[in-house]
Amino acid sequence: MEFRHVFICVNQRPPGHPQGSCAEKGSRDLYQVFMEKLQEDPELFMSVAVTPTGCLGPCMMGPTIVVYPDAVWYGNVKKEDVDEIIKEHLKGGKPVERLVVGKGKPPGMF
Ligand code: FES
Repeated sequence: MEFRHVFICVNQRPPGHPQGSCAEKGSRDLYQVFMEKLQEDPELFMSVAVTPTGCLGPCMMGPTIVVYPDAVWYGNVKKEDVDEIIKEHLKGGKPVERLVVGKGKPPGMF
């Protein structure tokens, strides 16, 4: 497995904020699920780092995560998507296209 680093936005804004936030949409649970999966799988544990971050930019598409070195941006990620991201992308090297919102740069940047 090639080493990859997953950044998960866990930014929290006050309720009712017009931009919303990833934490409001469940990203902290998403982070917990990723960490549990890492603990359960030694191969994954040795090959993947997962780091919670502040705002990654595309808040409206959150929960947002980005995977490096591929620079693949995922949006609207749910806990139920974690297994697929691990299997297809982190282990298999192929991004989960149905969740991709940007490649090489955040969505909306030209
Ligand atoms: S709050 Fe998560 S991308 Fe902005």
